[in-house]
Amino acid sequence: MSEIYFRIAIIEEEYIHKKYMEIRMPESSSKPVLVTCGLPYANGKAHIGHLRTYVPADIFVRSLRKEGRDVTFVCGSDTHGTPIVVNAEELGITPKELVEVYHKHFDETFKQLGVYFDAFGTTDDPENHNRTLDIVNRLIEKDYVYPKTIEIAYCPKCNRFLPDRYVEGSCPHCGEIARGDECDQGCGKHLEPGELLNPVCTICGGPAEYRQQEHFFFKLSNFSDYLMDYLSNDLGGTINARNYALGWVRQGLTDWCITRNLEWGVKFPGHDDLVVYVWVDAPIGYIAFTEEWAAKAGDSWEKYWKNEGEIVHFIGGDITYHHCIFWPAMLKGADYSAPTAVVASGMVKIEDKKFSKSRGNVVWVGEDYLDHGFHPDLLRYYLASYTSHTKELNFSWRVLQEKINTELVAVLGNFLYRTMLFAFKNYGEVPEGEVEPEVREEIEKALKEVKTAMAEYEFKKAVDSAMSLASFGNIYFQSHEPWSLIKQDKAACGQVLYNCLHLAKALCLIFEPVTPESMETAWKELGQEGDLHTTMYDDTLVPLKVGTKLAKPKILFTKLEDDRIEEMEEIANQRVKAADAKKTAGKGNGKEPAKSEGMEPAEEAKQAEKTGEAAKPAEEGKEKLPTIEYEDFAKLDIRVGKVLLAEPVKKSKKLIRVEVDIGEEKPRQLVAGLASYYAPEELVGKSVIVLANLKPAKLCGVESNGMMLAADNCADNIVATLMPDKEIKPGSRIR
Ligand code: MSP
Ligand code: ZN
Repeated sequence: MSEIYFRIAIIEEEYIHKKYMEIRMPESSSKPVLVTCGLPYANGKAHIGHLRTYVPADIFVRSLRKEGRDVTFVCGSDTHGTPIVVNAEELGITPKELVEVYHKHFDETFKQLGVYFDAFGTTDDPENHNRTLDIVNRLIEKDYVYPKTIEIAYCPKCNRFLPDRYVEGSCPHCGEIARGDECDQGCGKHLEPGELLNPVCTICGGPAEYRQQEHFFFKLSNFSDYLMDYLSNDLGGTINARNYALGWVRQGLTDWCITRNLEWGVKFPGHDDLVVYVWVDAPIGYIAFTEEWAAKAGDSWEKYWKNEGEIVHFIGGDITYHHCIFWPAMLKGADYSAPTAVVASGMVKIEDKKFSKSRGNVVWVGEDYLDHGFHPDLLRYYLASYTSHTKELNFSWRVLQEKINTELVAVLGNFLYRTMLFAFKNYGEVPEGEVEPEVREEIEKALKEVKTAMAEYEFKKAVDSAMSLASFGNIYFQSHEPWSLIKQDKAACGQVLYNCLHLAKALCLIFEPVTPESMETAWKELGQEGDLHTTMYDDTLVPLKVGTKLAKPKILFTKLEDDRIEEMEEIANQRVKAADAKKTAGKGNGKEPAKSEGMEPAEEAKQAEKTGEAAKPAEEGKEKLPTIEYEDFAKLDIRVGKVLLAEPVKKSKKLIRVEVDIGEEKPRQLVAGLASYYAPEELVGKSVIVLANLKPAKLCGVESNGMMLAADNCADNIVATLMPDKEIKPGSRIR
């Protein structure tokens, strides 16, 4: 069906109107900053995809602290929502027991990676229940919440309502198999209760029906003007987040159902049978965790959420909608401060394939990385330096090897080791000397570049600038030939080494945010007092104390040898094979299994929708949709049409405006996303098949009153319109 191409077209159009392309530089401010990370679902193990949120955020926090800013860094586990309930039910444990296991797992994993939060709570903490109630009550008081009777999927056999994950069916937008609240295999759209077609109960597999029930809605539509203004003028962070969000607001916002029939979660006030939707209480966790930190630290949470302090959210691009639309609207409605910045990363791929747990394209942080003895700093370096933060990041063992060996080992590690070893062997302490202007300038330059890049959330640029300073160090060392100088003039050689050691000290400070543990080792070997982690960037320019005792240096970074990489590649291959075998043997419907590991929202779809890549149906021809009744089919008015006119839609690379005779008085105007596959003139005179009773939609300002059907094969990039195989009058029905 060509619907998917309409959607791609819409997304692309939004991009053409890149009105806010300029990078909104955070004003250099001295306000306190709260940094948060998208909360991990306490429902599965940590994988490398997750780390793209946490590692850059940690680097950013460490860097801000080195600039002397007052920073609070909070996160916690997202413990509510149906996936967790479904999963616990399957495992025969309570949701609470389940989330405790994964909460502990994430807490430990983050610490192992050097990601230290000032508070790491859970959304089931009393602080979050209370804060959620406060916010929801305030929204109710201010008339932003209203009851509405809607159709909710209900399983007559299981005798229960079926929120979100408890129901599957086909997506009303793209037709793919979707679950109750999200088209996770197809177009990635958020679905409201009752929208799913042909609902099926995921507990018993039987057909579900829609029953009326009263639920509560948040008047999101009231916030369109506010959001338009906020997104256009106030929100900082990465442009991808802003641009997508603006596009969504322009497309029109609909009110949002914020209650669910579940036991597990935050009770909706006054209704014991309802809890709030997980995307209500999850972001409120950011406030609750700030409160938890404030209570511990004797500080104030209000300085962020009720005052001028800055709030910076680090997330993956997949949850932009929730952070740039729902969340600021809720905060505004309840009189809390809105986020200052949303920093949305591109998604992580594995060996150039889409991240997918069910297909085995996953790298687990524990069993695939840390447990094999790889140092966390190497992964931190990779994540920060691979590409710009908003782009997709490919994780590949070969690329890891290459980057570590040619950059961390050959440049930074090499400089630190040769300098420190030479100085230790020949002097044992910091020799007499002075920082040369050239060295000082290089440090100043690198530091300035690092700070600017960090302020722009360009972590790769920051790391590259830092690495250039290490390269400069190598050139400096090499060109001064201390190994021969020492034989002729020990004092002159001391001067060279003094500068090299000073550079080493500066590098420790500048690289600390990225590779904290390794830099701490070097810092100690340099005989530096005080904690590297709390030493400011400014210290890079404080000359080293002559006579400071040096320790024998260790090799900080060792080459990753082929055999280790091959071993990891083999493990990865085996996992993909096992997943294939399981799929062939098992259900074979291409869906993520409802198991602990596969429970998080399917990355594929989240990725497509929320990063604006061309959304593609999960896997052509493999997706089996539920059986439908003839009445369902009979609702479709499908007819033969003849194309009378076809022309490109202005400002669009994808859309063609066509006028089609479908046997009515006047030709029908349709907009088809076919411009990449057909020249308009090729279409004129063609017989086509048209879905005539599809709700009209505006595409790029042009109204489309129906849909021209086409067969597509995303994998081969082939799209073909359909036609009857003999001459037949326009308007003939297809049934
Ligand atoms: N629980 C929600 C977030 C609630 S925030 C109020 C969630 N959880 S998650 O476990 O799926 O993801 C946690 C973080 O990791 C999010 O920032 C998410 O965007 C990020 N990523 C998870 N998988 C990812 C990739 N494959 N690639 C990049 N980032 C991804 O979403
Ligand atoms: Zn869909």
